[in-house]
Amino acid sequence: MDKQEKAEKAVDMIEQGFGVYPGYRRAHARGEVYEAEFTANGAAARWTTAPHFTGGTVQAAVRFSHFSPDPLWLDDESPVKGMAVRFELPDGQRASIVSVTSPVFFAKTPETFNEMVSIYRSFSNGKPRLGDLFSLFLNYPDSRSGLKALRKMKAPASFASGAYYAIHAFYFVNEEGRRQPIKYEWEPDAEIERLPHGKGEFGYFEREMEERLSRGPVGFRLFIRLGRPGDPTDDPTKLWPENRERIEIGHLSIQRRTGDREGMLFDPCEVTAGIEPSEDRILRFRPEAYRISHKRRQEGR
Ligand code: HEM
Repeated sequence: MDKQEKAEKAVDMIEQGFGVYPGYRRAHARGEVYEAEFTANGAAARWTTAPHFTGGTVQAAVRFSHFSPDPLWLDDESPVKGMAVRFELPDGQRASIVSVTSPVFFAKTPETFNEMVSIYRSFSNGKPRLGDLFSLFLNYPDSRSGLKALRKMKAPASFASGAYYAIHAFYFVNEEGRRQPIKYEWEPDAEIERLPHGKGEFGYFEREMEERLSRGPVGFRLFIRLGRPGDPTDDPTKLWPENRERIEIGHLSIQRRTGDREGMLFDPCEVTAGIEPSEDRILRFRPEAYRISHKRRQEGR
């Protein structure tokens, strides 16, 4: 099975497991897009030539989402939230960081992902609970830490008060061609808070964000973690050691809701010169799956 067929299968599996909601993304179905500005503080210039990270301010589009492929799940039934950021450079170039409120993923390879979704599909009966999925997948040792983290996961109190992780490693490349493995993390300006019990009715997060934005911009600081030799760059189920250096490289200021312009596609491998996606097979596989989902939803399927 080639990459295209595997990606097609992944999207089919998600549809069979969770249902088809015409016009919606096949994962992270419900969300809102906002207009923002990103200002680099220049600290990343030592490691990368990427224009949006070396200094100055660029426009950005940000989509906050609930992870569920079913747009009708209540807000607290999707403990994992997504934050997709597309930097829109003045010369038309684009770069994205697609992140979630979990620091690890539950599958190391596309094959494992497809297998797990198909097992889930054969067991699921109505709405799944992340706790049930955990016991189902104990046979996947690589996935254990990701699933453990997911089981304990609670939604943030607001889209604006969660920390978001891009999970995969990328390489920053500087003027001398030196490659430095990094991982991205977004930290909210607001205090990190968990959603109080009973607060997660349908649409609460979107309404809360509108209210917040009516009082002023919502901010996030962007950090990179620097990998050291031996830190895995190909495995989204593994965290790097806690003591890895963490550098703040810029600030995102979210201003207003804009709507999902032309059904935007946030491609996790979209980068400029100065950044390279790592060899992580899940990362390399995602763009194809996203394109297939985008095509289907644009066709109203
Ligand atoms: C096998 C692995 C994965 C598959 C098959 C997959 C599949 C998908 C699909 C089909 C979409 C909808 C794309 C669209 O219609 O535009 C999507 C969206 C999304 N995924 Fe994944 N995904 C995977 C891994 C991940 C990982 C590791 C992360 C964490 C960083 C992630 C975070 C997101 C987010 C935040 C969105 C929403 C993007 C937006 O707002 O447009 N996914 N995923």
